[in-house]
Amino acid sequence: MNKQEKILVTSALPYANGPLHLGHLAGAYLPADIYVRYQRLKKRDVIFISGSDEHGVPITIAAEKQKVSPQAIVDKYHALNKESFEKIGMSFDNYSRTSLPLHHKISQEFFLKLHSKGYLSEQTVTQLFCEHCDRFLADRYVEGICPICHAAEARGDQCDTCGRSIDQIQLIDPICVTCGNKPVIRETRHWFINLKNLQPQIKAWLDTKTHWKENVKNFCEGWFKTGLEDRAVTRDLRWGVQVPLPGYENKVLYVWFDAPIGYISSTIEWAQNIGQPEKWKEYWADRSTRLIHFIGKDNMVFHAIIWPLFLMGHGEYVLPDNIPANEYLNLEGGKFSKSRDHAVWLDKYLKKFPPDPLRYCLAANAPETKDADFTWKEFQQRNNSELADILGNFVNRSLTFLQKNFDNRVPQPGEFDGLDKEMLSRLRQAPEEIGNLLENFEVRKAVSAFMDLARFANKYFNDQQPWITLKQNPQKCATTFHVCIQVLKGLAVLMEPVLPFSARDLWSMLNFSSPVADQYWEEAGNADVPMGHQLNQSKILFQKIEDDVMEAEILKLKHVTDKTNEQQKEQIMSEKISYDQFKTIELRIATVLEAEKVEKADKLLKMKIDLGDEQRMIVAGIALNYTPEQMVGKQVVVVANLEPAKIRGIESNGMLLAAVTDDNKLSVLVPEKEMPNGSKIR
Ligand code: MF3
Ligand code: ZN
Repeated sequence: MNKQEKILVTSALPYANGPLHLGHLAGAYLPADIYVRYQRLKKRDVIFISGSDEHGVPITIAAEKQKVSPQAIVDKYHALNKESFEKIGMSFDNYSRTSLPLHHKISQEFFLKLHSKGYLSEQTVTQLFCEHCDRFLADRYVEGICPICHAAEARGDQCDTCGRSIDQIQLIDPICVTCGNKPVIRETRHWFINLKNLQPQIKAWLDTKTHWKENVKNFCEGWFKTGLEDRAVTRDLRWGVQVPLPGYENKVLYVWFDAPIGYISSTIEWAQNIGQPEKWKEYWADRSTRLIHFIGKDNMVFHAIIWPLFLMGHGEYVLPDNIPANEYLNLEGGKFSKSRDHAVWLDKYLKKFPPDPLRYCLAANAPETKDADFTWKEFQQRNNSELADILGNFVNRSLTFLQKNFDNRVPQPGEFDGLDKEMLSRLRQAPEEIGNLLENFEVRKAVSAFMDLARFANKYFNDQQPWITLKQNPQKCATTFHVCIQVLKGLAVLMEPVLPFSARDLWSMLNFSSPVADQYWEEAGNADVPMGHQLNQSKILFQKIEDDVMEAEILKLKHVTDKTNEQQKEQIMSEKISYDQFKTIELRIATVLEAEKVEKADKLLKMKIDLGDEQRMIVAGIALNYTPEQMVGKQVVVVANLEPAKIRGIESNGMLLAAVTDDNKLSVLVPEKEMPNGSKIR
């Protein structure tokens, strides 16, 4: 690849109808950011473009649910998501939004161009109409059973289970999402893109894409087997880009028509912002630009088939060079679900944890070729045993040793022994090895090759035994640390795409003046830190995450699932248990002797209780309803034979019983008259 070649990288425009979760991040965003950061270190001419998708039915449905205007919804979530993206280190050159007048104008021009070149045709069609809501049920306004795979809850435009697009008329047992009524069929007029006729054209183009990922190629083949159908590109809706033709004043462009055009309008906005308004053309209007769309798999048909056809029809812009679509990320064994709140929201994550460990974990376990699963346990394990114990440990032990014994300067090396040479040679090969993987969108392998280098560096440190050579062979010890610093410099550059914040921190510990992101990738392997170079004070790069912090996160997800699984819960409640089963639960009366709040846990009280023959500590989630003073002296009911549990690091030996409602009204159970402590409850 030559250096002058332009690379235009995009991430799918997320709908501004809600916050982002880790599934989004792992699919279309993080892999793109890693790729772009790497290309920048390679000094390639790359720009990175995205923005909020602010049209379409997901937005208007959210607005109706929350009883606000669509504009209020997109304003809120555009701001929230933009901020989350910044905090997690997404290095977009521009993050635009499709509600901007500029985008509307570009989209209308695009539509008129396709129209004038004969790619569109007007058709009278039958559509589902809800008489109760008095409107046509565009896209997600209608749900039913998928006519192809028979999954429930297929939407009017697409089935999420089989990934096929659907003609809403064919949905089995359709219902109006808003009111739950059965819609009727009515006629309306729309503009269509003539996919049927264009099939050979797109097929021929896709056949040249032999370098694409297997999952994407297979997906496209599946589509051609069923054959393409003409598709409406206009909708009976008010929110969106107005159709620029007479008689269509009450209709808008289909959201999937205007959204990908957002890649272009966002690039135009970028060019304007940097004061070179024509510069976007250098990317879009040059056929040699490598246009790369990062997406999740639910966006494949639009990016691999329909969008390239729009671009061919338009005729003046470059077509995608690659579409490295990712599969799905699941969460603790289940699908991410907004409606069931089975999700880890990015904004919430960022309030509690630093960005880099998440970037690392999602990159190491990216859903590249098949679905992957995010678990908090794995997150903790990767943070503690890989980032902290391997990478962080090597950084820390090298730098503190230098501080203590070498005046915090890079020592002069003596002669290199076999181990030194092997370490340096691994370092020298790393940029090319890791770079090739990144070039090829193989982030998982790249991350593991990187961690292998850090692992080897730790082993090198151990094998050189500097704590012994310091006294017995100072020259050798100096050589070891000369080498360690070279490795640290290399690691800092090589980790920048995945761990940009930590790379910056390490770089400043190493006391280099020009930013780590301005370095040359190829030079990461060069042992070029000069002797005598003064280092800065070191600090811990990765904090370990404690068990109870993770348990709290896992519990939160469980709690939500339990709560929404009402049906299941009712079933369990109606199942009878035997008296023998009940007898296994040891309920007793106790008196609260002492009570205090648990630090940094506003719901928890820690209490010492008297059970007659013994005293115990228990922790209970009642602090929002009771003060410590209110609890002291109270007689309560506890489950005395519950196995001990660690809550926020405090061991709880028993559980206090209370009545609770779903909206968190809470009342502690007390005996009707005073009873001896330890009394059994039967
Ligand atoms: N908003 C869509 C989604 O979240 C993605 C749009 S990608 C673009 O699924 F190409 F239209 F921009
Ligand atoms: Zn309705």
